[in-house]
Amino acid sequence: MADARPFHWEYTPPPVAREIFRVEGGRALRGTVPISGAKNAALKMMAAATLTGERCRLTNVPEIEDVRVMADTLRDLGVVVDHPAPNTYEIASGDVDWLFVPLEAAAKMRSSFILLGPILARFGRVIMSNPGGDRIGRRPVDLHVDAMRALGAEIDYRNGYYFAKAPGRLRGGLVEFPFVTVMGTENAMLAATLAEGHTVIRPAAREPEIDDLMVMLRAMGAEVERTAPDVIEVEGRRRLRGADHRVMPDRIEAGTFVVAAAITGGEVAVEGVECDHLGAFLDVVTAMGVSVACGRDRIEVRGAPAGSGAYRATDVTTAPYPGFATDLQPPTGVLLSQATGTSRIDETIYEDRLEWLSGLAKMGASVRVLDHHRAEIDGPAHLTGREMEIGDLRAGASLILAALAADGTSVIHGAHHVQRGYENIERKFLDLGARIERLPEESVTPA
Ligand code: EPU
Repeated sequence: MADARPFHWEYTPPPVAREIFRVEGGRALRGTVPISGAKNAALKMMAAATLTGERCRLTNVPEIEDVRVMADTLRDLGVVVDHPAPNTYEIASGDVDWLFVPLEAAAKMRSSFILLGPILARFGRVIMSNPGGDRIGRRPVDLHVDAMRALGAEIDYRNGYYFAKAPGRLRGGLVEFPFVTVMGTENAMLAATLAEGHTVIRPAAREPEIDDLMVMLRAMGAEVERTAPDVIEVEGRRRLRGADHRVMPDRIEAGTFVVAAAITGGEVAVEGVECDHLGAFLDVVTAMGVSVACGRDRIEVRGAPAGSGAYRATDVTTAPYPGFATDLQPPTGVLLSQATGTSRIDETIYEDRLEWLSGLAKMGASVRVLDHHRAEIDGPAHLTGREMEIGDLRAGASLILAALAADGTSVIHGAHHVQRGYENIERKFLDLGARIERLPEESVTPA
């Protein structure tokens, strides 16, 4: 009998170069760290560039693996993607050869699904692989598909692929989400820029990356506006033009370095960041007793001496922007392990984003995972260097933070997860005085 499982799930991703981070902890970080462009803005802007046949030029694009995957995915479609200088990409989608985003792209990077809206709106059809779940949860794409249907698309799902068609042009309409979704909002907004008529999206996610994407879209000639904090309205245009845009700074990278300074008892200026984008996070770290001074485009952080127990326990509940960002929950969790008393984490966005805590516990933190969404951390804990495996991007960055604060040496496997989203992370830590190396897996002698 034929195997009843769709072939989609048979796919095994190609092997990635296995590398490790070796970190010698216990050094206070000092100096200035420049923040790169935001991953979660740049990826969407690369997708937005397919809304026009004219050339779009993006600067301050982070040099990270996810951007390379998006560039390759676009090239596979026949889009011209040039990389004339570091952090600069030029994208020209005059014509495309294939209206097909295969499983290879979707398996490498869930956010390739952001191509659904723009390609469907511009070319009238596309076949997209279902990205499936990932290590932090199921992460379905049903809301993206519903949004396209609300704009008049016909979408069938067969064998792990969405076959999407827009008979004629997409039609503006009401896109109502049952709850806030970042990429769902972006996909709907991108599609609506070329739809016929008026679109209202609500509740629209409020993440600053979406507003930066709107700035680019307006430069391309789109008529798009946030008419209320959680409403975006779009008046569709027949065509858009090319534009130049500078990607906003990465608030999640900035928050990661704030924690790095705090956890090592260091003094770090985090440069090129907008404090306003980090409000809920900075409220938590200041409530814990970290000294933080916000300037126009920098944050100065002074940590308490490592192991002093000077930080206060606190509770963290993740929420859509302007709430506490789920992507900063793991880094903040490391800091909570150094606070005196019991802290609580309530992860409301994802159902599997507390798994990384087992790595922290292995290093000596006292952690109780109560269920898929809630955990308690007792502190302050004395962290000791260990050998660990990274499960996903933000978990990986957090284990590096813990290793920087720990006594002794840590070997962290799966460095590629971190390179997906942090530009030159080891270089930035080295420049702050950390002892960290990225090495091929073979260089580790088994314990
Ligand atoms: N959801 C659905 N159906 C959908 C879409 C989302 O059920 O069709 C659920 C998700 O499973 C999740 C919740 O809705 O439980 C919210 O997900 P959302 O759609 O807002 O997330 P996303 O757009 O897929 C972006 C970032 C994530 C970040 C989240 C939340 C990008 C490329 N990714 O994901 O970033 O965690 O918003 O802020 O923008 C990261 O950078 O490490 C990362 C995971």
